[in-house]
Amino acid sequence: MAKKLRIGIIGTGMMAASHAASFSRIPDVHVVACCDVREEVAKEFGVAHNIPSVYVTYEALLAHPGLDAVAIVTPDRFHHDIAIAAARAGKHILCEKPLSISVDFADEMKSEAEKAGVVAMVNLSYRKSSALYAAERLISAGKLGEIRHVRAHYLQSWLVSNAWGDWKTGPQWLWRLSEAHGSLGVLGDVGVHLLDFATYPVGRLRDIHCTLQTFEKNKGNRVGEYQLDANDSASMTGTFEDGAMGVFQTTRWSTGNLNTIELSVHGSHGALSINLDTSFAELNVCLGADVHKARWKTRTLAPGKSVYEMFVQSIRRAGKAGGALSKGIPDFARGTEVQAMLEAAFKSSGSGQRETILYS
Ligand SMILES: NC(=O)c1ccc[n+]([C@@H]2O[C@H](COP(=O)([O-])OP(=O)(O)OC[C@H]3O[C@@H](n4cnc5c(N)ncnc54)[C@H](O)[C@@H]3O)[C@@H](O)[C@H]2O)c1
Repeated sequence: MAKKLRIGIIGTGMMAASHAASFSRIPDVHVVACCDVREEVAKEFGVAHNIPSVYVTYEALLAHPGLDAVAIVTPDRFHHDIAIAAARAGKHILCEKPLSISVDFADEMKSEAEKAGVVAMVNLSYRKSSALYAAERLISAGKLGEIRHVRAHYLQSWLVSNAWGDWKTGPQWLWRLSEAHGSLGVLGDVGVHLLDFATYPVGRLRDIHCTLQTFEKNKGNRVGEYQLDANDSASMTGTFEDGAMGVFQTTRWSTGNLNTIELSVHGSHGALSINLDTSFAELNVCLGADVHKARWKTRTLAPGKSVYEMFVQSIRRAGKAGGALSKGIPDFARGTEVQAMLEAAFKSSGSGQRETILYS
């Protein structure tokens, strides 16, 4: 029987429910504590998810007896301090994305986790797509030949549609629109998934050019304390280290798309595409003789593991023969790489120039 794993959730807002539900489905994993600076919210969350201990500070939660790991589910700007405190307290860490708000912060988080010898991962949740890992295997085996073009987009429409509620009245949407509330806009919010999804199977980007836009939302672009100044649309192009060209788009104004992620990769011998709206476990390929007719076939794969499952598995393997999972998991090193892409994209949007990505 696996050793019981005790987890604490820090930040009990919108995304925390997904953490509680996902961990509760994994055998011998127990969410034993939660905390939020908003006490009432934390208490309600504790009741809803049957979590016995509720705190108002992360320091108090980290001192919970017997705690093995934490999930950091606060707004982005708090990830750094909490992750460093958690690493120093010897807790394994699953941190929400983006890992932090700067490469320097992300780098420090990675170093502290390494020093402490804890498993540290970032919740790049679309890694649960088995099609993405199959794409990486096909590309690295050379089945597509030399990669020439990569296209990817992550499209949402919650500024137009009411499917996820009314953004004008929900603090969970309003902080995402406000720089002063720690948001890096759509680029930091879901562009981080987009850049991971597009580059994990293909390889690193060398440089990036990014244009950001913040469209008008209401008169004065303000709702109460929230100045609506964070970017809501991003168009990017990039050059991969092997010379392939990439085109990437993300926006909250893509009327008709609730949460669409698509990737297509075109090489000298073949192509592949993934559409997560259709399936997380289907890979479309155009290979061999099909290239001449532009005919596509769909491969249906076994479902992938969620990042929550990878995190638990990695903790259980740590210290055993073979060690923690490493290849291909979204650990803090990967979170830092993605942060470097984000940082170069922001720099480019300011300079108007193509910027080299400075990986640490
Ligand atoms: N992986 C994904 O697909 C995904 C999806 C949605 C959100 N997220 C990420 O999850 C994080 C949280 O987003 P959300 O939508 O849940 O936001 P939210 O605003 O709904 O919830 C955040 C909660 O953190 C609390 N909080 C703030 N500072 C805190 C602190 N110092 N200590 C304890 N609690 C604190 C807030 O009171 C709030 O209840 C963000 O980093 C976001 O990018 C990831």
